[in-house]
Amino acid sequence: MLPRSLEGRLRLPMLVSPMFLVSGPDLVAESCRAGVVGSFPAFNQRTSEGYEQWLKEISARVANYGMPWGAQLPVHHTNKRLDADLALTVKYEVPILISSIGITREVTDAIHAYGGLVFHDAINIRHAAKALEANVDGIIAVAGGAGGHSGTYNPFAFIGELKPLLGDKTLILAGCMSNGQAIAGAIAAGADLAYVGTRFVNTVESMASDKMKRLVLDSNLTDVVYTDEVDGVGSSFLRQTLPGAAFRQDLAKIGFDISEILEPKRWVDILSAGQGVGAIHDIPTTADLVDRLERDYHQAVSRMNAIPLAPRLVSAV
Ligand SMILES: Cc1cc2nc3c(=O)[nH]c(=O)nc-3n(C[C@H](O)[C@H](O)[C@H](O)COP(=O)(O)O)c2cc1C
Repeated sequence: MLPRSLEGRLRLPMLVSPMFLVSGPDLVAESCRAGVVGSFPAFNQRTSEGYEQWLKEISARVANYGMPWGAQLPVHHTNKRLDADLALTVKYEVPILISSIGITREVTDAIHAYGGLVFHDAINIRHAAKALEANVDGIIAVAGGAGGHSGTYNPFAFIGELKPLLGDKTLILAGCMSNGQAIAGAIAAGADLAYVGTRFVNTVESMASDKMKRLVLDSNLTDVVYTDEVDGVGSSFLRQTLPGAAFRQDLAKIGFDISEILEPKRWVDILSAGQGVGAIHDIPTTADLVDRLERDYHQAVSRMNAIPLAPRLVSAV
């Protein structure tokens, strides 16, 4: 179910997900102004000092909108900034911590102590169950075809198996939602919130380069390659930006190390996007995009209600 702190506050049941080199203060603030949750990865600032500057800026800009927003931290022993970034997250009372890779009870306790929420990014049931043991408030089920570090499961299968484990916690579905119809589909299938990334790469406020925005316009789902050769974790990349096999073997030798994500070799030149790219044809402002998503979401709900169905023919005995 929806956490109480989000009830009645969202124009659409969705978060704009955190994206490396894409989400910054403008995208977060404009998402919140438009009536949806905005978020960003702490690593979009190269240092903890930079992260603090953004926390200050975003807190000030979003204060007028009364909308919750989020920051994402990889909770992993290779994240050398974890202690410092977590302390800042607590200091600025970030309303939603999005944890990925791992999560601990110490982290959830620290966020809950000031009334914040923890949503954990999971690509399978085992990771979700571990996060629930650490007392997270919600699970982000990252289904197949999602941008960034992605899962492989079909969304219906994934949330069908996950939902009974969640009790009254929040179920958030991620992957390939580029329009309001898809968001309505996620909610109809049992999610409480949709987690939308790739569609927001192509907004005016996104920090993505013009090259990336053009590539998103020119790509469709056949251009999205799922591989673990770039940083050791299965992720979706645009085929046009993937280097040759020798370079990939070189990267594989480094193994998985979250701090390496900041290296230019990975993610900066090799661009990630989800299979939803094929349904993206423009670069609107975030405000215009959210208006459109809202209109299409309500149309999809009306369409479902208007399907002319037959009444039951034989009454139950
Ligand atoms: C370009 C790009 C960068 C991403 N970077 C991050 C990141 O730094 N941290 C994170 O938790 N998720 C990251 N993601 C994943 C998103 O938060 C989210 O799970 C995903 O975008 C949802 O699927 P969709 O892109 O199909 O909408 C990234 C996704 C994209 C497309």
